Amino acid sequence: MSCNLRGEKNQVVSPAGEMFPLNELNQFICNRQLCNHCLRVANCAAFLARILGLMEDEGRTIYLAGLFHDIGKVRVGKTILSKPSSLTIQEREIMEKHPVCGALILLGLGLKGSLLSLVLHHHERFDGNGYPARLRGEEIPVGARILSVADAYDAMTSPRSYSRVLSPEEALDELKRCKGTQFDPVVVEAFIASHHYLTKRTDKRCLVR
Ligand SMILES: [Fe+2]
Repeated sequence: MSCNLRGEKNQVVSPAGEMFPLNELNQFICNRQLCNHCLRVANCAAFLARILGLMEDEGRTIYLAGLFHDIGKVRVGKTILSKPSSLTIQEREIMEKHPVCGALILLGLGLKGSLLSLVLHHHERFDGNGYPARLRGEEIPVGARILSVADAYDAMTSPRSYSRVLSPEEALDELKRCKGTQFDPVVVEAFIASHHYLTKRTDKRCLVR
């Protein structure tokens, strides 16, 4: 049986039994809220990749990275994930390991290349104050810069335990406010320009019920 970052034993055991990391993949798939968030982010990010003129194979990789970008949260544990108040410093440190954990889980599943890099860097910030590697500007893979915007918009406009749901207009204002600091300005501009069409296409598609 595998353990999460706090040393707690995982409760869900897949038909794959003890076979790491299939058990963690199974836990991810069983987490409806997490999977639906990832699906929405994947659809949104793939659409952004297309309107930004990226190659089709890059768009496919970004879509797949979006699908799995938060798989590392299965090691964080529900207590932290669903905590209704601010995280302590120690809890935040655990939470901030999820991109590394995600990349390691996917590596264990036999995936490789830029897909892992996008999962690893989806919480970097344009100003260099993100994690895990504090990459800055164009040092951050473009797919990770796209995922970051799609991820933030979906997080702000979805029910969260620690914060109220923002309206689309409020979320767009927040993206604008953080343009050039947290987010790549080019990606934010593309998101804002196509927001109406983009959210219509991606909001409720392919959700796990
Ligand atoms: Fe994340």
